[in-house]
Amino acid sequence: MAYLLKGVSILGASPTDLYIADGVISDKPVDGAEVIDAAGLVALPGLVDVHTHLREPGREDAETVDTGSRAAALGGYTAVCAMANTSPVADTAGVVEQVWRLGREAGLVDVQPIGAVTVGLAGKQMAELGAMATSAANVRIFSDDGFCVADPKLMRRALEYVKAFDGVIAQHAEEPRLTEGAQMHEGEVSTRLGLTGWPAVAEEAIIARDVLLAEHVGSRLHVCHVSTAGSVEVLRQAKARGVRVTAEVTPHHLLLTDELAAGYDPVFKVNPPLRTRKDVEALRRALLDGVIDVVATDHAPHAVQDKECEWSYARPGMLGLETALPIVLSVFGPQWDLIADRMSIAPARIAGLDGHGGDLTKAGTPANLTLVDPSVQRVVDPAELASRSRNTPYAGMTLPGRIVATFLRGEATVLDGKAVK
Ligand code: DOR
Ligand code: ZN
Repeated sequence: MAYLLKGVSILGASPTDLYIADGVISDKPVDGAEVIDAAGLVALPGLVDVHTHLREPGREDAETVDTGSRAAALGGYTAVCAMANTSPVADTAGVVEQVWRLGREAGLVDVQPIGAVTVGLAGKQMAELGAMATSAANVRIFSDDGFCVADPKLMRRALEYVKAFDGVIAQHAEEPRLTEGAQMHEGEVSTRLGLTGWPAVAEEAIIARDVLLAEHVGSRLHVCHVSTAGSVEVLRQAKARGVRVTAEVTPHHLLLTDELAAGYDPVFKVNPPLRTRKDVEALRRALLDGVIDVVATDHAPHAVQDKECEWSYARPGMLGLETALPIVLSVFGPQWDLIADRMSIAPARIAGLDGHGGDLTKAGTPANLTLVDPSVQRVVDPAELASRSRNTPYAGMTLPGRIVATFLRGEATVLDGKAVK
């Protein structure tokens, strides 16, 4: 199918006509193209998420590759990197190939599996990184996310191993001995509520260690869900020294604070925990100045029984794919170049997803893009989400921006705000 996006604004520039044919952007009129009235709509390169939990295999009651792909497309994404903490864990070529194949079958976004760093995420023995890298899934990012690769010797080995094929280790930075029994951010609010705290230094200490290891080895390190002002300073110094480190921040850490724990609603329980207003402000500045490279959702669907229970028993994590762009728009306003870089171009580069994050003004660019109506304000209704889970912390909030259409290699995955298949 060929399309004409009539009067579309590419990244906020003046309106133009954009043709899509044969899976790419075309600069010439195409006969028989379906016309989409795109007046007032902004075209962005399709969003890319380097941190998504799709839960399949193992917890299909919370999400599947299909339902998660649907949520992603509706959120404006054309590619997501699927975290390895499935059941079984994605620590072999067999499991990453299974996830990759399920992604192709769903056909709504490119699903790029992330491989585990250690067998069973147990932190003891390195997984078969080479076999996953050379599998059909072509794994380039490895992560034990959910757990920290706490053993420095293992971390060093993993960094050395992936250097050969320019892979990257994505670290969930949490010194486990400092967060035993932790329920929320350690600070004034945790003291008041009498809940065991997760101190900022547990994250900062691991990031400091790992940037030194990455520097020593000369490998690429990626830091997942940075959540504290102190982490930003460690990263700033490392980048200034030329360490090959990239970092992500989640929409929830850009907006929400630890005060929300006071209502004991487990929808706000997440790991790393929501931090203070001062941290939120530092994270926003770091995303603006580039010390933090990307926004990643950490989309973490959980079944009702795992979330709607006592705070201390609830699993950490919140949905993110369908609300990420509206949250970023609400925080930063229509800074389209910034949004395109931090949510598409930079994540595509980190994940090595060549067809994504391309220049929409150039003929021949793969037609991976999304159309946003920034003039619409919408109330988040959990019942309307495509995700199989309901654990959104934004229920009832009014947020700007509606994803009108998404295209994957020139085929519409979303039209009129609805998934096409
Ligand atoms: O809140 C979180 N949820 N943090 C993690 O690191 C893992 C994730 C999950 O898998 O639910
Ligand atoms: Zn994590």
